[in-house]
This record gives sequence, C-alpha cells and structure tokens, in this order.
Amino acid sequence: MKRFIQLLIILSIVSLFAEEPLAVFLTWEDNPSTSMVVTWITSPNEKTNKLSYQPAGKGDWDEVGSVEQPFPLDFPYTIHKARLTNLKPETEYRFKTDNENNEWRFRTLPNDPTSELKFIIGGDLYNGHNSDFIEAARTSAAQSPQFAVIGGDIAYAHERKLFKERKKTKRERWIKWIKLWTKEMVTPEGYMIPIVPVIGNHDTIGHYNQTPRQSPIYYALFPTPNSQGYDVLDIGQHVSLITLDSGHTHAISGRQSLWLEAVLKQRRSIPHTLAVYHVPAYPAARKLSSRRGTLIRKYWTPIFDRHNLTAAFEHHEHTYKRTHPLRHHTIDPNGVIYLGNGGWGVKNIRTPKNTDKKWYLAKAMPKQHFILVTIKDRSRLFQAIDMQGTIFDHYQAEAPAVK
Ligand SMILES: [Fe+2]
Ligand SMILES: [Fe+2]
Repeated sequence: MKRFIQLLIILSIVSLFAEEPLAVFLTWEDNPSTSMVVTWITSPNEKTNKLSYQPAGKGDWDEVGSVEQPFPLDFPYTIHKARLTNLKPETEYRFKTDNENNEWRFRTLPNDPTSELKFIIGGDLYNGHNSDFIEAARTSAAQSPQFAVIGGDIAYAHERKLFKERKKTKRERWIKWIKLWTKEMVTPEGYMIPIVPVIGNHDTIGHYNQTPRQSPIYYALFPTPNSQGYDVLDIGQHVSLITLDSGHTHAISGRQSLWLEAVLKQRRSIPHTLAVYHVPAYPAARKLSSRRGTLIRKYWTPIFDRHNLTAAFEHHEHTYKRTHPLRHHTIDPNGVIYLGNGGWGVKNIRTPKNTDKKWYLAKAMPKQHFILVTIKDRSRLFQAIDMQGTIFDHYQAEAPAVK
C-alpha cells in the first residue's frame, strides 16, 4: 500500500511537469476513411514521440510512433506527426499523446455513398483578430462538419523579409491561428475537425511566383499537398476534392495543368468532382481581365469543361458570389458552378463591382460566409452561411447519370 501511494505521488509530480501540446490538429495524406495524420506542436524539451489511439471505448490502446521536425524559422517549437492507418470507416477514435492526459476524438469519413457527407469550405480566415476568428470558427463548427477545406489566406502571415532577423512579426500569426483552431474547431459532439489546406497569396512571402521555400510554415504544418503544392483527396468512389495552387508557389500553367488534366480524366465516372483554389477565375469585385483570373481561365477552366467538373470553390476577394453554370465561357445548364469568393473569418469584406457587366454572376453580395457542402448518393447541396448561422444562398443539384 505504501509503495502504491509512493507511485501515485511520483505519477502526479510527473503529470505536473508534462506540458499540454501547444496545438493539436488533424490532416490527411491518404484515404480519409481509413487513415489520419495527427500533428501536435510542443516546446523542444518535451520528450514525446508516441501517440496512443483506440476505437472509442473498445479494447486496448494501440501505439504509433511519430516523426519530428523543428518548427521553421527558429520558432522554439517541435512539430510531431503520427500517421494512423488501417482505421475503420465512419468510426469514432480517441487518441492521446504520451506527454499529456487529455484525450482527443475524431471520426473517420464514410466511404459509402449512401452515408451523408457534410463538410465546409471557406477561405481568408485569420488576419490576426482573435475575436473575428472565434466567431467564424464557432458558427462553422456548430454545423458539425466532418472536415474543413481552407481556401487560402489561412493566417495572413506573409512577409517580404522573412529570412531577415526574427522579430515579433506577422509570422507569429501561424502559431496564434493553430492554437485557436485546436481550441475552437471542435463539433458539438466533441470531434476535432480535420483540415484540408489550400495555399493563398498571404501564405507566402511574395504572394505570387514563389517557391515552397517562401512558405516554410505552411509546408511544414501540412503533410499534403507536400512540396507538390496541389493534390487530390478521394472520398469513397463518389467524391473527389482537388486542391490547387493559384500561382503562389507553383505556376498555374505547365506541370500543374498537366497534372489536373490527368487527375480529372481518371475521375470522369466520379459523380461529384470539386476543385478548391484561392484566386477566382470569375471575380465579383475585381476586373475579369485581372492577371491570375485570366491565367486560370486560360489553363484550368477548359480542363474543368472537358471533364465535367461539378463545381469550383474560389476565394481571395472577400465577397460572396455564385456564377451561373458555365462552359466554354458561356452560360450552359450543364456547366461548372463557381462559388465562394472568400471572407470566412476576415471582416474586411468588399463590395462586388460592375455586376451589370459581369454576365456570369447569378448572385454577388458583400457578405462574410463559408459554404456547407452536403453530399449523399447523387445529390449535392451547397449552402452559403453567414456568421449568424443563417443560410442566405443555396444551390442544389443531382449528378447526371452520365457525366
Ligand atoms: Fe484574403
Ligand atoms: Fe488572397
């Protein structure tokens, strides 16, 4: 009994010195129904290299090792990543890192088209104002999304002089943002909300025509898209989510366009194919002739048209817009819907301009929002939701029998 009490005292002292991770978040680099990447950030002196997990309430805890890397740009942190594989679809899991007592929970995605899939897409998220982010995060987490796609301008941590001396600068926003995400992006049922990232101009030093070296924190935090910069996430046999780099660290033309053509060609039988990227092909506030949008219409939208993409989610402008279905740059009932336009967590919302001349717009308004996507079998629903949780626009359709 005396030894047992001594052991209890020792364990309590150890747990007093164990620090909670600075942040914990989820991403994928493989099948989202059977895998998960857990990332956690600690101070460098925290010895932690294992993660324990179990299907909720069932059996023993399994253990998996982690890989570590220093946080870029001399931040005094370490990034740990553990890759969980061979998980069961649509199943709740619990996990804990070996330096904390806290348990976290997530749910793997369904791979069966008859199970409802519900996720959010929004861009232009955290520009340093905590209360604005918290409002956006709480409104969107309340929808119980199974994951969130962030369409670029994640933490507005760009700087032109990134490699000069490190002062307290905008790059600190990555740390503040990921801490807030850990705390706030949890569903009412208690599940963490995995991140599917997309890069935006404010996530790099020089906005455009950069390389991954100019976005070291973005590429260190997220295992995908890895240095390729663009990726595809297949969910079951019925949804493909294509994340693209609109010219920030990879060119719109060339290798990325060739990749996009091949990926969409292979997925012609997938009923729901969605592309997400930052700069819009079809702007609401800027001119249609603006440089990047023109490049996207030159290199990407013809590929979307050839392979019958379902919808393209665009950001960057801080407005809301939804286009008519478009094909070959004209309105066509079987065309692609372009929607979104950014303004999830940021409050500097812009007013759409010259909308009478923008023949492609079905709706355009100055509105902070995110989009809730609900997919079941062949039906899809896109709902635009404001920060009061009100649905102010929606688009519903069935996937055609033959694409
Ligand atoms: Fe932005
Ligand atoms: Fe932007």
